[in-house]
Amino acid sequence: MKKRIAIFASGSGSNAQKIIEHFKRSNVAEVVLVLSNNPNAYVLQRADNFEIPSHSFSKHELYDTDQIVKLLKNLQVDLIVLAGFLLLVPQSLLQAFPNKIINIHPSLLPKYGGKGMYGDKVHQSVLDNREEESGITIHFVNEHFDEGEVIHQSRFKIDHKDNLEVVKFKGQQLEHHHYPRVIEHLLAKMKS
Ligand code: GAR
Repeated sequence: MKKRIAIFASGSGSNAQKIIEHFKRSNVAEVVLVLSNNPNAYVLQRADNFEIPSHSFSKHELYDTDQIVKLLKNLQVDLIVLAGFLLLVPQSLLQAFPNKIINIHPSLLPKYGGKGMYGDKVHQSVLDNREEESGITIHFVNEHFDEGEVIHQSRFKIDHKDNLEVVKFKGQQLEHHHYPRVIEHLLAKMKS
């Protein structure tokens, strides 16, 4: 039986789309739900384009009710994938899905991670500090922002001429390539 993936995203969802596309062609798993805390997030449109069911929720629903856990359990989700999800994952979700929630971050963690370190802010800080390289990190999620056991890191060189757009593009290329493959690898060795 195919493993079942739920994606949480708050924004554009370019990573979510790459993951959806990848698993449309895979025997290992399928994306069964896309969730967002932002009802206007473009990721919901992307889900729609691929005829993947989606659900947007409020902070109240996420933090003060068990509706999201119930929804994911009912759908028999095997892996929760955060792809540009900006809220802290609640304890209830971590407990319901131990070692089954992963995140991607656009830096070489533990560098440039933590609360408020998101998207362009990460790349701008990397440039401000004149780093010679940056990269991406895929990791298990715990109760803190951008922490938890690292599953995968890839790096790229920063040229002294690179601006924000270039650094962002280099990071995004790595994310789009590696995230679907790392997910597939993880699910292939997951027992239940
Ligand atoms: C990605 O670059 C991801 O690494 C980052 O948000 C972006 C979402 O882009 N996540 C974080 O910064 C988490 N702290 P997308 O919506 O186009 O996939």
